[in-house]
Order: sequence, then structure tokens, then C-alpha cells
Amino acid sequence: MRVVKVGSALLVLMAAVSGAWAQKSETEKGIDKYREMIADGNPAELWEAEGEELWKKKDGPNKASFETCNLGQGPGVVKGAYVTLPRYFSDAGRVMDLETRLAYCMQTIQGISEPKVTSYNQGDHKKIVALATYVAAASKGMPLNLPQEHPEEKRMYELGKRAFFYRAGPYDFSCATCHSAENTRIRLQALPNLTTNKPAGEAYTSWPAYRVSNSQLWPMQQRLNDCFRQQRFPEPKFGSEVTLALSTYMGVNGKGVASLAPTIKR
Ligand code: HEC
Repeated sequence: MRVVKVGSALLVLMAAVSGAWAQKSETEKGIDKYREMIADGNPAELWEAEGEELWKKKDGPNKASFETCNLGQGPGVVKGAYVTLPRYFSDAGRVMDLETRLAYCMQTIQGISEPKVTSYNQGDHKKIVALATYVAAASKGMPLNLPQEHPEEKRMYELGKRAFFYRAGPYDFSCATCHSAENTRIRLQALPNLTTNKPAGEAYTSWPAYRVSNSQLWPMQQRLNDCFRQQRFPEPKFGSEVTLALSTYMGVNGKGVASLAPTIKR
């Protein structure tokens, strides 16, 4: 909605500056495009559809689909998986979030020995982003319910909590510096208090999200990496333990909140 408001304000301004014009400017065309996209629904649906195809496609050296991939609810079960991740997987012997689990299935089921995940939204990472959107969408409206029984799941939560409050870097920032108070914002962007139930649950289940500002689809790891950048910390690599720990921390804090993903964001 904010885009539309900004858009019409900009149009009024431009009309005032340049008077009537016959041809549409690039800005106006861009605004039209956003209006269309918002009217037609969330462009994330395109990623969702692609993800569904990839889930069923026989691929990789083993010519196998994801239909036997176990996301924690049994082989091939997609519904309900997103709202229980990250969780401990005994076959892998560690806690995994959705993105790392998808990479793991690519490896173990499709036989892609080293999925190419180092460049954002390229190669195998591009597939993981689409697959994650498909899996997340299947749990829309379901309550967050991350398991906390296994000692590794508890350790991840504690690690996430410590990482959240850990201050360092040139500005001595932690996640908590920006995300632990009510009603704060940076310019127009609201900063959710990730230490409390509803904001944590809503923030956690907002990703994957379509970002209007750059026309990209961002999964959770990408969202977190961008906050590491805002914190002036080095960017974690794909599947790094600190991202999984922070996801566990937010997901557990958000217990019971109805899942929103995929969403549309500025
Ligand atoms: C310097 C301030 C700052 C720091 C430090 C920071 N963030 Fe953020 N964070 C933001 C801003 C600003 C946004 C909103 C960005 C946007 O709308 O583009 C955001 C958004 C988020 C979101 C998405 C919220 C939603 O509702 O979709 C999550 C999750 C998040 N941050 C987690 C973290 C975590 C975890 C850390 C620590 C690693 C962290 N942030 C550190 C400023 C910060």
C-alpha cells in the first residue's frame, strides 16, 4: 500500500513540475508496473510455482525429484514443514533451517555433490530460493511450532540468543540495538521487537518475501545477511550456524503466531 501512496504523491509532484505530458515517463511506467503487480497479487507466486515444478522435477546425476525429501514431517511432506524449522535432523546429525535442508536433499537425493550456493540467487541457490518459497507457502496461516526437545535444538536457541545480544563492530551494534524496543523505526522502516512473541513470529514468517525495492525474492538467510551488513559485521556464508541459530531464536520466540510467508516488502 505504501508504494501506491508514494507513487501517487510522486505523480502529483511530477505533474506540478512538468505540467501535462503526452508520453509516459520511465518513472510513471515504473509506478504503473508496481500498481499492476500489487493489484495482481504478490509476484512471489511466480517463485512459488517454479518451486513446485522443481520439487517434482527429476534432476541431478541421480535423476531424482524432491518428492522423497524429508523436511521433518515425513518424506515428501511439504505442508506444515516451514513452521517447524529450524529443527534437528538425525540423518544429518545437526539442526537445519529450510534452506540448508533443501541443499542437503539436493546433495543426498539428487546427487549434486556440492550445490552451488555461494552466489546469491544464481545456480543451485536460485533453485533453493524457489523451492523455499513453495514450501513456505504451503504452511500459510499455520502456527509457528519449532521443536525444542533435542539438546541441539535447545543449544541453537541459546546460541541464537547470545548472537542476538552480542555487540561488536565499528558501531558496537548488536541485533538488539535495532530490534529490542517497541515502536522504533529507521526513516520509514519499522523495526520489529524480535524479543517479543507477535513481532518475532511475524518477522520470522515474513520470509521468503518479494522485495519491491529491488524486484528480488529474499529467503530468510538473505534477510539476515543484510542485517549483518547493517550491523557492519562480516556477511555469513550460506548455511552458517549463526544464521540458523538466529532463526531458531526468532522462530521459538514467535511460537503460535500464524505464518505469513511469502510476503511482499518494500
Ligand atoms: C542498524 C540497525 C539494524 C541492526 C543492527 C539489525 N537490523 Fe534487522 N532490520 C533493520 C531494518 C532497517 C530492517 C527493515 C529493512 C527493510 O525494510 O528493508 C530490518 C529487518 C529485519 C528483519 C525482517 C523484519 C520483518 O518484519 O520482515 C529481521 C528478521 C531482522 N531485521 C533481523 C535482524 C537480526 C537477527 C539482526 C542481528 C544479526 C539484525 N536484524 C540487526 C535494521 C537492523
